[in-house]
Amino acid sequence: MPENVLDILKETLITFILCLYYQIVAIIKAFLPTSVQGKSINGETVLITGAGSGIGRCMAIRFAKLGARLVLWDINEAGNKETAAKVAEAGATVKTYTVDLCNRADVYRVAERVKKEVGDVDILVNNAGIVTGRKFLDCPDDMIQKTMDVNIMAHYWTVKAFLPGMIERDHGHIVSIASSAGLVGVTGLADYCASKHAAVGFDESMRFELYSMGKRGVNTTVVCPYFINTGMFEGVKTRFPYLLPILEQDYVADMIVDAVLCNQHILLLPRILYFIMALKWVLPTHCQFLLADLMGINHFMDTFRGRQNKNE
Ligand SMILES: NC(=O)c1ccc[n+]([C@@H]2O[C@H](COP(=O)([O-])OP(=O)(O)OC[C@H]3O[C@@H](n4cnc5c(N)ncnc54)[C@H](O)[C@@H]3O)[C@@H](O)[C@H]2O)c1
Ligand SMILES: *[C@@H]1O[C@H](CO)[C@@H](O)[C@H](O)[C@H]1NC(C)=O
Repeated sequence: MPENVLDILKETLITFILCLYYQIVAIIKAFLPTSVQGKSINGETVLITGAGSGIGRCMAIRFAKLGARLVLWDINEAGNKETAAKVAEAGATVKTYTVDLCNRADVYRVAERVKKEVGDVDILVNNAGIVTGRKFLDCPDDMIQKTMDVNIMAHYWTVKAFLPGMIERDHGHIVSIASSAGLVGVTGLADYCASKHAAVGFDESMRFELYSMGKRGVNTTVVCPYFINTGMFEGVKTRFPYLLPILEQDYVADMIVDAVLCNQHILLLPRILYFIMALKWVLPTHCQFLLADLMGINHFMDTFRGRQNKNE
């Protein structure tokens, strides 16, 4: 049967009115502090991948202080143990697992162990990431493969392992640590950018999928930060630090945890990235080349050293 024009008009009008309502709510929420609008995660189980250093470690400590139980995954056992010690110091229960995220069978096996030994995971933070840091034709094939395995394929496997439990309880949160490199392409980061664009697309699709399934208790958050001083991008310089500063890892971790507490879906850091993203879709590509030159973006990776001992 053809759709009734009046019904379509009615649905359209209701959609616009609701959009206006949610726009106003979003503006109000932008000004309310986390202490007012944030949810409590006391007693919840938080699993963080790549918890053995950088923002993974900083987030673990912040979640611990909020009363969460921590499950820490990393390939680097020593780093992970160090994080666990700091989490315990903050008064939280913690368990560490050594896992190679490149290995799907390993991910599934360790996920089963977590379910048996700790129980359901309430907040899953896919944070582990690696970078090759070379022009595409200079990237060794195995590093390209590994980058995809850690930065996106592992997200699929962990979500497959833990989302069913969240859906069953209609309670959970999936956090994807992507990157500003998941929103724009960058010279010298082709494999990394592709993996991070994939993480952004995966998060967005899952958010729509959960919404359309009516699973309002399961939320997702995607995080796209500019460079952070964790050592992962050691050597990289930013041309205009006032506009685009290299971010402090503690600040980034705090902002991510705040976004989770407030059920914020998308977090770009620093805020100027929201403006840059708007420009991306209106400027001709030739302007983008010139602006990328001006901002030094085409030469970011020239001074890149990265982590000296990559966990190969
Ligand atoms: N540092 C930055 O400038 C920056 C900017 C934007 C986004 N990010 C993203 O933030 C996330 C955290 O980055 P970081 O700067 O804290 O990096 P980091 O190198 O300090 O931490 C990454 C952790 O992931 C772990 N890891 C790597 N490969 C693994 C594997 N196969 N199995 C299990 N664990 C593995 C490492 O051992 C390490 O502890 C990454 O996804 C990264 O891409 C970083
Ligand atoms: C998910 O977000 C919705 C809307 O903000 C909220 O009502 C719900 O409680 C959230 N679920 C969790 C587990 O935080």
